Amino acid sequence: MQAVYFIMGVSGSGKTTIGSALAQQLRIPFIDADHEHPTENIEKMRMGIPLTDEDRMPWLQKVHARALAASSDNGAVIACSALKQTYRNLLEEHLMKVYWIFLDVDRALLQERIKGRKNHYMPASLLDSQLATLEKPKQAIRVNAKLGVTETLDIIIRSIYIKEKRIGIVGLGVMGKALARNLGSKGWQLSLYNREVKGSEELVAKQCVNDYPELNTALPFNDIHAFVKSLGSLPCIFMMLPAGGVTDHFLNTLAPLLSPGAIIIDGANAFYADTEKHQEQLLQHNIHVLGCGVSGGEQGALEGPALMVSGDKQAYDTVAPLLVSMAAINNSGNSCCAYIGRGGSGHYVKMVHNAIEYGEMQLLAEIYGLMHNGLQMNAEAIAAIFYEWQKTELHSYLLDITQQILIKQHNHQPILSRISDKASSKGTGAWAAQEAAFLGEPAGMFTTALNARYVSANTGLREWVQQHFTSRDQVVTAQKIAIDIDQIKAVYTLVRIWNHHQGFALITKAAEKYRWDISLASVADVWRAGCIIRSSLMDKLAEGFIYTNMVLDIPYCKEVLVSNYHKLVQLIGAATLAEIPTPIINEAYQSILQYKQKKLNTTLIQAQRDFFGAHGFQWDDDTEGIMQHIDWV
Ligand code: 6PG
Repeated sequence: MQAVYFIMGVSGSGKTTIGSALAQQLRIPFIDADHEHPTENIEKMRMGIPLTDEDRMPWLQKVHARALAASSDNGAVIACSALKQTYRNLLEEHLMKVYWIFLDVDRALLQERIKGRKNHYMPASLLDSQLATLEKPKQAIRVNAKLGVTETLDIIIRSIYIKEKRIGIVGLGVMGKALARNLGSKGWQLSLYNREVKGSEELVAKQCVNDYPELNTALPFNDIHAFVKSLGSLPCIFMMLPAGGVTDHFLNTLAPLLSPGAIIIDGANAFYADTEKHQEQLLQHNIHVLGCGVSGGEQGALEGPALMVSGDKQAYDTVAPLLVSMAAINNSGNSCCAYIGRGGSGHYVKMVHNAIEYGEMQLLAEIYGLMHNGLQMNAEAIAAIFYEWQKTELHSYLLDITQQILIKQHNHQPILSRISDKASSKGTGAWAAQEAAFLGEPAGMFTTALNARYVSANTGLREWVQQHFTSRDQVVTAQKIAIDIDQIKAVYTLVRIWNHHQGFALITKAAEKYRWDISLASVADVWRAGCIIRSSLMDKLAEGFIYTNMVLDIPYCKEVLVSNYHKLVQLIGAATLAEIPTPIINEAYQSILQYKQKKLNTTLIQAQRDFFGAHGFQWDDDTEGIMQHIDWV
């Protein structure tokens, strides 16, 4: 049974205009109940005689019959005054899905409109009797009909989305399943779709419905046509597929099946430029694609992730209730779902989130290495230190899980001692490093974190180097590192700030380059809960960004950098002597050190460039940017 949308209100409220526009948008038939009146009624009205309940009865029955017929076909929009509750009760009898949309207009405007109407049997004199009969509905989408057609339609469609609450979820891998369960537990009606692959992905959606009580009212599909049909006239689809080719291919299949006005939310870790490509392609069919960075892993997806959304603002406003309902809520009571901006800016911000995540993870690995290899501490002792740090300004999700990992045992040994050290990555870190290089934004923290993973996986070269150089383990056991926990803590605090600084600086640069209006305060606010990089530091940044757009300008950050810097220098010295690899700590140190110089040795680079390529250089006291070139030989 399909939905029937009744547009109601007194004569002159705009039922026909709005109703036919809505029907066109929903691609379903439009029925004007005025055309269903028996001739006696029309004659009476023409003469200015108000209709009685009795007069209206055969008419209402006829409209009801048409509504019933439409509901078992494609549904319909019906413009009908339906002034009394008893009339509405009759009209909606036996209909499974009914929406009442009440166009509420004041008397003066109504009178003006009726006078301006040509070829209509209803005289303006009947208006007062209509208003006297009108019982305003309590359960209806109510629109002030003073608004223009487009605005009115927007309000109606948004409200229908919320009331209809049938959302399609595509891709029931770990994340898709968790998001579906999250939405199911919030009361949304779901249609679940997963492709069918013999032997590996069979009846996946059905299995989900059977396995999870919060999904037991969801409709499972492995046929894309049936899935789309189940979503009715205004499909809204949350897509959780692997980014790249799989998504491209799926969108090509899906687009021709959808009606204009459909909204697709891409929740994958997609490359922002691909998101923009999809937005352009599907807009040709009047379908909106919203890029939605989702962070929080499986648990976040289930209990409340952080969502970074971008694309058409009206499309976002339409689906915002859905997204907000699934997102985490931060300590200030704000939703961790935000509209980031146009185009692919949501996925861009998620990419930077992941780059900061890479930096944080690498830093924690190095801190662990310093304690384990340098201070000869076992996993349990390190976990105890991290546990204490969690009670301070260092509190973070990643520190918390690291502490839990350290105490985890496997066959009576710390599990960490049994896990292969080859680290993987899926792409977002590499994109961020690439983007930073492309935009000319120094973001060595991300490149270093990424390279550390690549080095770990390059087992061939590692073996070669190990054969030809003295073993690090021999050196370290002979020489304990000359630093203490407090120094390590100070350095950890400082390097995290430098890592976050580079992430937010990259967002600022991208916003300038791509003309996105991104609020760093709102990005930091979204990252305060639900996501992988949530932390007490993020709370401080979110507050700081209200006054400045630079992490380093935030008093807490400035203070930490300046006062902990000498400990960073000492630690680098000690770790170098002990031959303990600390690439990201070094990167922070080297980067700050360079910024500290009054004059950098890059003078030589400029001279070399001019020597072999006549690329030009500037004199160091030049304030006008005049390029020089000299004859070097
Ligand atoms: C998150 C994570 C999540 C995932 C990334 C990183 O915010 O929930 O960032 O998106 O962990 O894909 O993966 P790699 O480390 O494999 O690149």
